Amino acid sequence: MAITYYEQERLFELRTRRTSYLFGVNGKGTLQHAYWGEQVEAAECAGLLKGRHHSSFDADIDRETEEFGGWGGSHYAEPGLKATFADGVRDLKLGYRGYAITGDDALAIELQDTHYKLLVRVHYKVIEEHDIIERRVTIENRESAPVRIEQAMAAVWAVSGRQRYRMTHVAERWAGEFQLRSAMLTEGKKTIESRRGFTGPHANPWFAIDDGEASETHGDVWFGALGWSGNWKIVAELSAFGHVRVVGGVHDFDGAFSLAPGDAYESPVFVGGYTLRGFGEMSRLLHRYERAHVLPTGELRKVLYNSWEATEFDVRAEEQLELARRAAALGVERFVVDDGWFGARNSDRAGLGDWQVNRDKFPEGLETLIGEVKSLGMEFGLWVEPESVNPDSDLFRRHPEWIYRFPTREGTQLRNQYSLNLGLPEVKDFVLGFMTELLTSYDIKFIKWDMNRTITEPGADDPGMPIWLAHVSHLYEIWAELRTRFPGVEFETCAGGGARIDLGILRYADQAWISDNTDARDRLAIQEGFSYAYSPAVMMCWVTGSPSGLGGRSLPLSYRFHSAMMGGLGIGADIGGWTDTEMEEARGFVAMYQSIRHIVLQGDYYRLAPLGRSNLAAYQYVTEDRSESVAFVFLHAQHFGGEERRIRLEGLQPDAAYEVTANDGEPTALHGSTLMRAGYPIMLRGDYDSWLLRLRRL
Ligand code: DGJ
Repeated sequence: MAITYYEQERLFELRTRRTSYLFGVNGKGTLQHAYWGEQVEAAECAGLLKGRHHSSFDADIDRETEEFGGWGGSHYAEPGLKATFADGVRDLKLGYRGYAITGDDALAIELQDTHYKLLVRVHYKVIEEHDIIERRVTIENRESAPVRIEQAMAAVWAVSGRQRYRMTHVAERWAGEFQLRSAMLTEGKKTIESRRGFTGPHANPWFAIDDGEASETHGDVWFGALGWSGNWKIVAELSAFGHVRVVGGVHDFDGAFSLAPGDAYESPVFVGGYTLRGFGEMSRLLHRYERAHVLPTGELRKVLYNSWEATEFDVRAEEQLELARRAAALGVERFVVDDGWFGARNSDRAGLGDWQVNRDKFPEGLETLIGEVKSLGMEFGLWVEPESVNPDSDLFRRHPEWIYRFPTREGTQLRNQYSLNLGLPEVKDFVLGFMTELLTSYDIKFIKWDMNRTITEPGADDPGMPIWLAHVSHLYEIWAELRTRFPGVEFETCAGGGARIDLGILRYADQAWISDNTDARDRLAIQEGFSYAYSPAVMMCWVTGSPSGLGGRSLPLSYRFHSAMMGGLGIGADIGGWTDTEMEEARGFVAMYQSIRHIVLQGDYYRLAPLGRSNLAAYQYVTEDRSESVAFVFLHAQHFGGEERRIRLEGLQPDAAYEVTANDGEPTALHGSTLMRAGYPIMLRGDYDSWLLRLRRL
């Protein structure tokens, strides 16, 4: 039983395979957090709910941690909820009213203001096997007048009992997404957020807290990830009394809304988890959870070719067909035509919004190319960017009122485009309409859905729902509807790279484009950061040209393939210019990938040697039954001559023998115990040398 209520103690226990999560009703009748960590005897922890008086300057509530509370009374911490009632009262007192357990794994706690009929349900779902708890809240207005909601967070997580706390998260920017950051928390707040209308490349709604000592393999790590693809915030607040609260949900900035009588608001899901086994196990728990509970299907990623870096906007039927022939010869399974196939789209200055095939570029329409691609044994995929419009487009000329902007302002153009107000029902219908027509008219099996600008100057609010909420809600509804109408089509989430990846969109997306930076060395850093929160099952990578278009770095084809084989393999180079030798080598890598992708995409992932700790980086994947494994090893900046290094593998069966093959070398047989303790000898030579180790249990 994952959920127990200890009636005498008024204590709830959510128990997963390895953890206990405790909270209860305290003497004041409010919901208070008690404990989160390794399993304990719950009933013996009831004392944790006792009030702790300190002084009149530090009310009890500062010393305790409420499980979910509102701004009211002497509560000064970041609130879960802030509301104003119709009579101007801005004080919440959420009292406990009862609970309901549904099935084995779901619990809802009912709270209500002691005077006003504002009902808050705090929902929990216990994902026992992955040591994860899903949380969300629903808020229902049972008053006869509207209630203004100024902040409604999805969850308040509490971590306590340590001397110090460190917060880890990801940061940076376009082409440098998912860069890992760690800093000790001091008293006060650390906020990570997006106010740009989408998840954002500068931060991502995932966090981890440890005491500063946790490593890849050891130590307590508490972690969480929010499933929301619009404005969000996660606030980690260290109190003067030594506990951390992590509050997260849809951003309150410019986000207040009016909840009409009888209406309800539902927050996104904020998942949290705990492990005693360091950051590596944290990632594996999240990855397994995502594969089992978030992603729409368990399908393996197809090897794709995308012509964007080869042709940019100059997509023409003949050239695309030539690329398709070359791609098919490499063993590619899906051919994707990127930006430039529609309207007057010859650059980023025009055409966006006009989703009709450009007849100059495709005189016979898309049908002929699709037919050829299919006869080459590949699926056909197409790029779209439905939420934006160029001012130089028929759509904008017809509907200038469909974009976000304030009436007295011109509106900011980014990449020469405006954002469409997807919150408007007519815009939602337009997007759903043209996407339905595209997917009905053509045999398209894959959509890359891009968004190349942030939302700015959001215009007048609908009194009921702020645009920030409406945009994302409609986006999710469109994706859900398209998936229902076209069950055979797969979708990729892309936002000028990795700016819209989170557990919200991943409920609808089969794969994610994590960065426009396709330099294979930079990509390792981006992929590594991504892997802290998200599974390689959705992580798309491309092999592109050398020198790289972005940074000018030259890298061998083997390094580029090895880096790109660590998730879903894509090829984006101008393969028309590849020599026969390169084609032959690439064909070998694609075939190798096809034989190992089930391990990469569905296996457990280990950061054996993360970047930056030495000139070697190594990552390993192991199937759940531990019978197969692969490891990618990269050497950077060779110095002082070559030397044999040993890399210690993980996740294998110690007493089983494995056949180990490095690149195309001769296989050797070694036991799991040897490989994990004494390690495997690595002999890489020269800058950007790399190895693929393949292991099969004998
Ligand atoms: C940004 C994407 O990330 C690229 O891969 C490409 O699709 C361009 N947009 C096209 O405009």
